[in-house]
Amino acid sequence: MAAVRGGLLNTELWSELPKEQWLDCEYEQARETGLPLIIGLGYTAAQISILARLVRPFADALELSTHYVGNDISPILDGLKAAKDAVDVPVFVKLTPHNNIQEIALALEQAGADGLVMINSFGPCLGIDAETGLPYMGSKEGYGWLSGPAIKPLALRCVYDAARVVRVPIFGVGGVANGRDAAEMMMAGASAVQVCTAAILQGPKIYGKIVRELNEFLDNHGYASLEDVRGLAIRRSSERTFRTYAKVPVVEQDQCNLCGACETSCAYGAVSRTHKLEIDAGKCFGCGLCVTRCQRRALRLPS
Ligand SMILES: Cc1cc2nc3c(=O)[nH]c(=O)nc-3n(C[C@H](O)[C@H](O)[C@H](O)COP(=O)(O)O)c2cc1C
Repeated sequence: MAAVRGGLLNTELWSELPKEQWLDCEYEQARETGLPLIIGLGYTAAQISILARLVRPFADALELSTHYVGNDISPILDGLKAAKDAVDVPVFVKLTPHNNIQEIALALEQAGADGLVMINSFGPCLGIDAETGLPYMGSKEGYGWLSGPAIKPLALRCVYDAARVVRVPIFGVGGVANGRDAAEMMMAGASAVQVCTAAILQGPKIYGKIVRELNEFLDNHGYASLEDVRGLAIRRSSERTFRTYAKVPVVEQDQCNLCGACETSCAYGAVSRTHKLEIDAGKCFGCGLCVTRCQRRALRLPS
């Protein structure tokens, strides 16, 4: 593993522990928490058929990990069938960030998947240590797979696409590090979120922190429950209109502290600061970047 800007690169493929240790020790310990236990496993149908039966006594559900399979999803469908034949608990299928995620999600739902998990880390990617000129990863080509904040927009897109075509629940995963990220993932259509990189980088206490922040987010925004946010971006999509003309942002002067972030990143030279922030409508291209650069929500696009 290597920390890179935006997250982590990893080349981990399998569990570090032999299956005997999971079966004799780890699952038992995990069950002591009293929390539902979803057991992740993979990869081939033959392996899944054996492993699913072995882990069944400990599992409330299974999650089948998949890897890049190109356009042929038959290995994933075969793995799902093997798991469904082997156990009576729900089986979720975890997906890599495919472009045609809707097609795959639908095929898996029709084949009996009880839920979908998306996304796995993204790659192959390459990280180079400028001090040595060598790739960080010890893999054959030096490639690694990217996770963390850098892949959150990709994960959101996958969840959003899949949630519009399937009815089974979706676990959103990719770059979730705080309550607001979790809310966004749910707005895209996820029923639950998973967190990996943030927990590696910040420690396992982050799970409780995210739950607290999510609750605060719901309270602060007047949402009565998660149901109000789940799929919100999908429900609200009909309110959006496709436009090809520019809108000049409106400045809420009382929110602005004249920090200058918007001015620095305005490639059109449209923003200036004197005693107040001003946007020159003649120069503004309406790209909208300044709106999302502002930490204080002092800029907004007019409706
Ligand atoms: C070190 C590391 C090891 C991982 N191993 C697996 C794995 O064995 N199986 C799997 O399905 N996903 C694996 N993942 C992917 C994560 O479960 C997750 O889908 C991905 O990292 C995106 O979420 P994140 O940004 O919260 O990390 C791994 C990720 C990391 C960083």
